[in-house]
Amino acid sequence: MALLSWSDQYLIGNNVIDTEHKELFRLINDFHTHWLEAQDRRDIARVLNQLITYAQMHFQHEEKIMEAAGYPKLAEHQEIHEALIDSIFQLHHSYSEGNLHLEINTMKFVRNWLIEHILKNDYLFRDFLSRQKSSGEAAS
Ligand SMILES: [Fe+2]
Repeated sequence: MALLSWSDQYLIGNNVIDTEHKELFRLINDFHTHWLEAQDRRDIARVLNQLITYAQMHFQHEEKIMEAAGYPKLAEHQEIHEALIDSIFQLHHSYSEGNLHLEINTMKFVRNWLIEHILKNDYLFRDFLSRQKSSGEAAS
């Protein structure tokens, strides 16, 4: 069974962000499947690396979109992104060094890593976007 299943409750209301979030779900599931199938350690590390590379690109896109929208919490959000990248880099590092066994707890960490980011932080941006949209509609 997949670790994560997409639900429309995760939609932020920006196409680029939503499409990339779906891809992050896919990459995390891919990572989980590789682990379940007990594939080669290097192979698992490679999939984790793909996830990190994609996440970094996504965070950059998200920050640009937030900047263009005049999002007041951008700086805060950037710091959260940095911390997220740090924590997943650490995991990758320990794993590639052989200091870490991937357990279900690690998988839960990776799952929460994404879900909490979307639910706690990206949701604030979603609310900002919808307020902007409704005040735009009120003004027109
Ligand atoms: Fe995001």
